Amino acid sequence: MNNRELYKHIKNIFKEKYAGAPLCVQSPGRINIIGEHLDYNGGYVLPASIDKYMYVAIAPSSRTYSCVYAADLDDELKLDWNHIEKEPPGSWKNYVLGVLAGIRKQGKTPGNFNAVFGSNIPVGAGLSSSAALENGIAFALNSLFDLGLERSGMMHISIAAEHDFAGVNCGMMDQFSNLYGKQDHGILLDCETLSFEYIPWKPTEYQLLLIDTGVKHQLSNSPYNQRKEDCQTGFHAIRQHFPELSSLSRASIAQLDAVKDTISPRVYQRCRYVIEENQRVLQARVALQNQDLMQTGELLYASHEGLSKLYEVSCAELDFLVDTARQEKAVAGSRMMGGGFGGCTLNLVRKDAIPLFIEYAGEKYFRRFGSHARFYPVNISDGTKLLK
Ligand code: GLA
Repeated sequence: MNNRELYKHIKNIFKEKYAGAPLCVQSPGRINIIGEHLDYNGGYVLPASIDKYMYVAIAPSSRTYSCVYAADLDDELKLDWNHIEKEPPGSWKNYVLGVLAGIRKQGKTPGNFNAVFGSNIPVGAGLSSSAALENGIAFALNSLFDLGLERSGMMHISIAAEHDFAGVNCGMMDQFSNLYGKQDHGILLDCETLSFEYIPWKPTEYQLLLIDTGVKHQLSNSPYNQRKEDCQTGFHAIRQHFPELSSLSRASIAQLDAVKDTISPRVYQRCRYVIEENQRVLQARVALQNQDLMQTGELLYASHEGLSKLYEVSCAELDFLVDTARQEKAVAGSRMMGGGFGGCTLNLVRKDAIPLFIEYAGEKYFRRFGSHARFYPVNISDGTKLLK
């Protein structure tokens, strides 16, 4: 369903199921142009919101409980603000419950409500559909009950929901870019200080194209947390010699090399990737500012190489898609995106070559893996907002 149809569909479902005229919130998916696995290492990241959305329709309820209906799953959560408890791992309800628990923790006492949500953000594809749900619900409740939460407050509530209820020890990139996205701009975010700047970016001859491997990634219990631990181990070792260092991302390769003998080859590799990727983000900022698509593309390829060989969070399907892209002149750059172990690649493809490239890459992928990759052209959009 396209965005307009989906928005109407969600509003109609609300009217059929519950009473009242709902407020509607639009909450986007996100891409990360470059800077992967740097958010929890105090580095720079360069994400953006995209025009694939979660819609949340919400209105007050006079009943003694609240209801949240997941339209895509035909599943309803009934809840009581005074008894918010975690559901079994893997349930969508945890994202909602986690946000409600966070709002309660801030001493806020919203009333009861009904909400319906639905989305065209592919789930498990690394586009942060979970951040869109968390922030969509937080934003909707904030608007409905005038809770006085700032965007940064909602961001922290959503991150806590992810950690404490969904069991994913993520950084802040997804929740941040979902709330602070701006149409036709990348966001250069310093994850150590949370200061950020918008970089205008609207490639005219090129299109951002996501290719979904269809391999679902599950970040809870995944090697994601192990990567985090490796980085902490490496940072701890570097800090023994360079106590002034504030984060692993800020270290230099020379500083890492100075402690090489005290850490395992694996930890060395992880740290090397982090330090190099952080430098690539700063180079990408300049390339984007200069509208230098070719240089941006080269940085994407280099990022993938590091993610695949040093950080080891890619998989055969992602590597295959990036290799396929690399052989095509019309593709300026390509890399896996998000946590890894599945999900999407991000590609910068010349607009006039898109149909042929999709056909070629789609067939090649099917021949190799026996399943269909999915292709999503996306544009950079605004962050979460109320629709009038
Ligand atoms: C997931 C996490 C983010 C970030 C990325 C990797 O999307 O939720 O916080 O760590 O992986 O860059």
